[in-house]
Amino acid sequence: MIWEPVLAKFKELFGDEGDIRVYFAPGRVNMIGEHTDYNGGHVFPCALTIGTYGVARKRADKKLRFYSMNFENLGVLESSIENLKPEKEADWTNYPKGVIWAFGEKGMQVDTGLDLVLFGNIPNGSGLSSSASVEVLTGYILKDMFGFDVTNQDLALIGQYSENKFNGVNCGIMDQFAIAMGKAGHAIFLDTATLKYEYAPIKLENAKIVISCSNKKRGLGDSKYNERRAECESAFAQIGEVIGINSLGDLSEEQFEQYKDSIKDDVCQKRAKHAVYENERTIKAVEALKNNDVTTFGKLMNESHISLRDDYEVTGIELDTLVEEAWKIDGVIGSRMTGAGFGGCTVSIVKDDAVDTFIEKVGEAYKAKIGYAADFYVVEIGDGPSRLA
Ligand code: GLA
Repeated sequence: MIWEPVLAKFKELFGDEGDIRVYFAPGRVNMIGEHTDYNGGHVFPCALTIGTYGVARKRADKKLRFYSMNFENLGVLESSIENLKPEKEADWTNYPKGVIWAFGEKGMQVDTGLDLVLFGNIPNGSGLSSSASVEVLTGYILKDMFGFDVTNQDLALIGQYSENKFNGVNCGIMDQFAIAMGKAGHAIFLDTATLKYEYAPIKLENAKIVISCSNKKRGLGDSKYNERRAECESAFAQIGEVIGINSLGDLSEEQFEQYKDSIKDDVCQKRAKHAVYENERTIKAVEALKNNDVTTFGKLMNESHISLRDDYEVTGIELDTLVEEAWKIDGVIGSRMTGAGFGGCTVSIVKDDAVDTFIEKVGEAYKAKIGYAADFYVVEIGDGPSRLA
């Protein structure tokens, strides 16, 4: 079991007495619907079988002791539940601390401390939501160990709240929702305006989901993520003056074309175009999948990438190289960047018998052009958070 060494590490650091519990929360990949979640549009992500393992024990005092097997050089990081402030710090413990703080803000005081050891097998900073995974995991641990009456959907909202208010990243709801609500073999078709959702089975006969990791690190905080959000808000304010809408996600392509000139700034107009067309693409893609039309789904993935490259401008040479090389391979049904962009990963649907060639050829071309290697993962769609032991 992957979690056994994590439990062993916990016992080595913190002793083996008391009620020690083991948990898991997944990472996520978004199939289509990028940069739509803070524009009131649709997304289509799924939880993965890779994620974050956590071993935890309640303490009798107010202390927090955290250790991550992914950042062993940092050692055990100690703090207190009483000192939690929404301020920026450099280390990963901001994520669990932010969630403990957010529970308090929502009227659920965590009254004693916690010992926690984490191990994640999601590549860090890859755009597969390692941070949202830690947030949902922490929320799940608090629910289970402290007995808070919250649903998994609440855990998603609390995770997002902590990311927005404690960590200062203005993310939408997609990542935490995909992780908290994950279901094996299914992606989640979520309307971010209403939080209505539906599970859609991903039946890829003779094909796999392959994630290509650019190894260009990024954190949402240091990316242009918040800037894109502000550009969309400005576009919405302008177009909203001529047509009554609650968000860009309310607009059809036709309405956008009719009213787009009310957005005076060209850059904001391009950002809004992406938000509107990507939302429509996501609805069409899910429809195609329901009709077992994976080919159309793949074409819409490709169009999504082009829009993220040309109109939203969040790709960059690393992601463009991975995708454009993928498109050259026979047996690739669709390929696009996934997540916030500016680095991180791409997601591709690849026919079974083309997977090896894909990894070899895209890998070679990437290294030749970018100067360092990409990593490839053939992934499975997994469930949401759970207690393992
Ligand atoms: C990040 C954010 C999400 C979403 C994506 C882009 O992953 O956390 O809320 O906005 O970027 O689709």
